[in-house]
Amino acid sequence: MCGIVAYIGPREAYPVILKGLKRLEYRGYDSSGVALLHDGLKVYKKKGKVAELEESLVGQNLHAHAGIGHTRWATHGEPSDRNAHPHQSSNGKLAMIHNGIIENYTQLKNELIRKGYQFKSDTDTEVLLNFIEDIQRNNQCILEEAVRIALKRVVGAYVIVLLDKDNPDTLIAARKGSPLVIGVGRGEHFLASDASPIIEYTKEVVYVNDYELAILKADELVLKNLGNEKITPFVQKLDMELAAIEKGGYDHFMLKEIFEQPDTIFDCLRGRLDITNNTITMAGVLQNIDQLKSANRIIIIACGTSWHAGLTAEYIIEELCRIPVEVEYASEFRYRNPVVHPGDVIIAISQSGETADTMVAIERAKEQGAFIFGVVNVVGSSIARISHAGAYTHAGHEIGVASTKAFTAQLVVLTLIALKVAWEKGSVDQERYTHLLHELYAIPEKVREVLLLNRQIEQLAKKYQGATDALYLGRGYNFPIALEGALKLKEISYIHAEGYPAAEMKHGPIALVDEHLPVVFVATRDSYHEKIVSNIQEIKARKGKVIAVITAGDQTITGMADDTIGIPEADEILAPLLSVIPLQLLSYHIGVAKGCDVDKPRNLAKSVTVE
Ligand code: M6R
Repeated sequence: MCGIVAYIGPREAYPVILKGLKRLEYRGYDSSGVALLHDGLKVYKKKGKVAELEESLVGQNLHAHAGIGHTRWATHGEPSDRNAHPHQSSNGKLAMIHNGIIENYTQLKNELIRKGYQFKSDTDTEVLLNFIEDIQRNNQCILEEAVRIALKRVVGAYVIVLLDKDNPDTLIAARKGSPLVIGVGRGEHFLASDASPIIEYTKEVVYVNDYELAILKADELVLKNLGNEKITPFVQKLDMELAAIEKGGYDHFMLKEIFEQPDTIFDCLRGRLDITNNTITMAGVLQNIDQLKSANRIIIIACGTSWHAGLTAEYIIEELCRIPVEVEYASEFRYRNPVVHPGDVIIAISQSGETADTMVAIERAKEQGAFIFGVVNVVGSSIARISHAGAYTHAGHEIGVASTKAFTAQLVVLTLIALKVAWEKGSVDQERYTHLLHELYAIPEKVREVLLLNRQIEQLAKKYQGATDALYLGRGYNFPIALEGALKLKEISYIHAEGYPAAEMKHGPIALVDEHLPVVFVATRDSYHEKIVSNIQEIKARKGKVIAVITAGDQTITGMADDTIGIPEADEILAPLLSVIPLQLLSYHIGVAKGCDVDKPRNLAKSVTVE
């Protein structure tokens, strides 16, 4: 969580930082702030979104060639002006921005209080900053040295960037556990949580690794480890265009990303699926095929929407590969004492590749000898790097906080993996295998057809926008889609929604049903069809309002439901790729109808880099 941007060079720093903060707002938007070196060190900060900071600074002299900026997702201390970053050290000489959590901050704070330090905020960041100031004062050392000493005492995760009033031509940054990218320009440097604030100015970037320190001047980049040894920066070329991070005529990023799905799914299949020769090419899978096909067990680790993709994959992998699969919330897995054997394969799924719980869960499993296969969207992200092997989802930059196109891309990659392993293992016959490859190839076009239902779903959203609760039900492959539909509605429209296996409903949730409760059934034609038809009847008998996502032309359900959304026919294994899309659109339109900020829902952040 939290977005950081910094600049040093000949340009005006403030506009670069401001634009960068707007691009990083998906990471948190409780408050924002900038520190600039002009006429000394000036810090400006404000509770609320970046636009509010911008408005408060209209007319100010913000001329500077070095500065740092931050957009916050609150952890320590409520969202407020005083808890906003950047923070200033006690002596007023240093300003710092921070993304992460300093776990031993109470201990450090108590030490500093005993020395007479006073604090203006409730944040762990101000504690770390004053700790650095204190070390510099006691050791009479340069800032770089003080940062290094301080970081050796710090427990937790951080990206920090410091501005020093006495050294206006230098920025100091360090990372452990949170992402940090350096943009290398001509006579200028940029720093940010991801490449989106940088892409406009340069395509040359350096991804900073854990326990590395960057000392940046306009025309010099020095990278060191915490032992003060120099490291040669590895400069990479960004494979990303500016257009990919702009709204392109859509009202919201979420809608744009929903509509990108025919292309993102196609991109995900491109170069991997060959329906002329009936082959799947995935280097990460092929190189580790023995490990994968002889796995005793596959454990899928993920959070949120990625966890729902994992749950869908459990059904697919068990069906096709006949390997037992367990799906774990990373946040639970990391804290219990799970039994993991060297013959187990962990599939870690993450859009951002930076989710703290997933990262730690991977480390735990690695310690116990498991093989880690990452399914990640962001190229070069931490999870991609700590996995033994993996496959990227190639969904492009996802900015809307609610995950949409990343989810379908995850499903595609997981299905390809399942098919490839099943084929190599011999657990799927030629006919079924070939059929599924061809069906998969047809999915992007079918997604395009589903998107034509947008207007119909918008009307439906108007009808149901007043609901206070909703139930989402599905069976088999569509059960995880019911969970995902409910999550989308909650996060975008703040309507309480629950996803449930349709058959479990009679063991409790059915008590909720009355004439006011919308019940969304994900009921495409599959081997569970008859059973779910009975479940719909059970709801109708209790006067619930039924909205059903069905296979187009299904007269049985059309005759019972209050509203239906008919989508193209697909093999039941692939149906989730289609059935999830109306649910994404439904929550989007309900959120918009209710006036919610769908791209930046309250209390959320895109990438959850704290536990
Ligand atoms: O980046 P990740 O896929 O690891 O993120 C996991 C969850 O935080 C994420 O899916 C979250 O649940 C989304 N807001 C859902 O739309």
